[in-house]
Amino acid sequence: MNVYESKHPLILHKLALLRDSNTKPKQFRELVNELSLLLGYEATADLDLTSTQVETPMGTTDGHQITPTIGLVPILRAGLGMVDGLLQLIPAMQVWHLGLYRNEETLQPVSYYNKLPAQPTVDTCFVVDPMLATGGSAIATIDVIKAWGVTHIKFLALIAAPEGIAALQQKHPDVSIHVATVDAHLNEIGYIVPGLGDAGDRQFGTSD
Ligand code: PRP
Ligand code: URA
Repeated sequence: MNVYESKHPLILHKLALLRDSNTKPKQFRELVNELSLLLGYEATADLDLTSTQVETPMGTTDGHQITPTIGLVPILRAGLGMVDGLLQLIPAMQVWHLGLYRNEETLQPVSYYNKLPAQPTVDTCFVVDPMLATGGSAIATIDVIKAWGVTHIKFLALIAAPEGIAALQQKHPDVSIHVATVDAHLNEIGYIVPGLGDAGDRQFGTSD
């Protein structure tokens, strides 16, 4: 119900380039950045607005400004690549880093970094990670953000598995999920098929 899969031609075009095994880290990072901006544009379509008055050189007119104070929460490492594209859209966003990696044996998220202050400083959070696989990392991150005190949350990913969407919706039905695409399934080691491989390794050139 609250899952938004993009149909935008630019997103679909760039996604195919992103998936390609021949795409090197430099281009991969550029594509993650561009896709994040495009996906962010779609995911911000329902942001609340407050009316303002603007003085133009010719007089006064009605204007608008975004109402919520927004925090951008990239899930390290791979989520880092989505930060700049979203900051281009909303430069005033605060960026709060959370570090999690997925234990490759158990597929459970392991937390290793949390830069959130004691009290929330925003009223809305955009959580970003290129991949939603089992959903464990997204769920653990959103658990932390809700415990921090923020309840209005959107999750943005480039590629999602149906399994991850189902798990996230089950645990956090109030969180809207914005994805460039939903892929077929997870394989036996928890990777998205057809996916793009390991998003962190492909961005940072750390593939074996
Ligand atoms: C990847 C990805 C997500 C997670 C998704 O991160 O960026 O954070 O896996 O899998 P899940 O939905 O099953 O939790 P990874 O653990 O490889 O860490 P990295 O970003 O440091 O490469
Ligand atoms: N993490 C990734 O980077 N890719 C996947 O396919 C699954 C989890």
